[in-house]
Amino acid sequence: MTPSESADIDPTDIDAIRALFALDPAISHLNHGSFGAVPHAVERAAAAWRARADANPNRFFRDDIGPALASARTLAAARLGGRTDDWAFVENATQGINAVVASLDLQPGDVVATTSQAYGAVLKCLRHHTARTGATLVVVPLPMPAEGPEAIAAAWARAMTRPVRLAVLDQIVSQTALILPLGQMIPAARAAGALVLVDGAHGPGQVTLDVPRIGADWYVGNAHKWLFAARGTALLWAAPDRQEGLHPTAISHGLGQGYGAEFAWTGTRDFSAWAALDAAIAFHDRLGGSKLIARNQAKAAGAAARLTAAWREVAAAPASMSAAMATIRLPPALQGGPETAEALRRHLSAIHRIEVPLWAEGGRLWLRVSAQAYNRDDEYDALGEAVLAIVAKGGI
Ligand SMILES: Cc1ncc(COP(=O)(O)O)c(C=O)c1O
Repeated sequence: MTPSESADIDPTDIDAIRALFALDPAISHLNHGSFGAVPHAVERAAAAWRARADANPNRFFRDDIGPALASARTLAAARLGGRTDDWAFVENATQGINAVVASLDLQPGDVVATTSQAYGAVLKCLRHHTARTGATLVVVPLPMPAEGPEAIAAAWARAMTRPVRLAVLDQIVSQTALILPLGQMIPAARAAGALVLVDGAHGPGQVTLDVPRIGADWYVGNAHKWLFAARGTALLWAAPDRQEGLHPTAISHGLGQGYGAEFAWTGTRDFSAWAALDAAIAFHDRLGGSKLIARNQAKAAGAAARLTAAWREVAAAPASMSAAMATIRLPPALQGGPETAEALRRHLSAIHRIEVPLWAEGGRLWLRVSAQAYNRDDEYDALGEAVLAIVAKGGI
């Protein structure tokens, strides 16, 4: 860390915060949620690990990396809850979810249940493994926009009236930014006999976590989104009684030696991002830790209020059910399908230099904003005006 990087950061000094990231100063990066943003300090820490590996590959892979990753998992446990031994590194949420589902030995007739707001790639994983094994995938429709936790929990509970082998539930939904009421949904899934996998891709760093208390069997969370880890860093938690028979997506030397050993080595790879998890957690703390989480949530709620007012539109979830992201419907003049959403995203990026994800749902377009320490309120106003300007000229 350079001296300026170890000083306390004033959360209102957005220019100073922005300088801690490699982000192009010319863009308005309102999409922390999809791919995160890597701080210089974390990239430097990862580069130092890469340099160690390059200086003496034999010693690094045989002697150094094992203890380094064990201490990184201990830090993860201290931050996210549970015991070191219950946490394993995976590359990303996709890989962790695939590992759990593929390990389950699904049988014909088994029911796998998820919601209509599950992440697209996760739905594909579930479709693949249910089709492969003759199991049945049930996708429970959730109301959108969400009005409150009760309606969501009730929609889920109505589908939990048959035996379910596996329930896959998001902690924070990608497209709608909705925090699912897991405290009600997991007990309903348990009553149907289900094992529960929580997709916490957006959880670590966006909300405060004590993973074992969620009450799931498995939890997968990305550290490379809201915890500022270098990309390719995700963490899989397995309850102690759900570790046997759980295999990584690549079987390697650790096979048969237990959960920790199997996930510790899945072949030669660049371990630098995982080994630098300490720098990511230190950076999150430096920006405020739990205070950063609260500030981002307030900033996102403010952004949702500004944009819904500017566009006279609705948010996909109430602020009380969201954290550092908000999804807002675009004015009716900008209707269309996935191609229109993609064309609009490209236009906002190329012409207005604003980065946001957009989706089409039932002919209407929705746009998600993220709130991170480096974002200013006026960036959301500029987005609001850009969309209104597009509406005024009749489209892009
Ligand atoms: C809810 C959810 N699940 C899974 C993923 C996949 O994450 P990754 O691309 O890191 O595997 C995402 C990515 O945004 C997500 O939002």
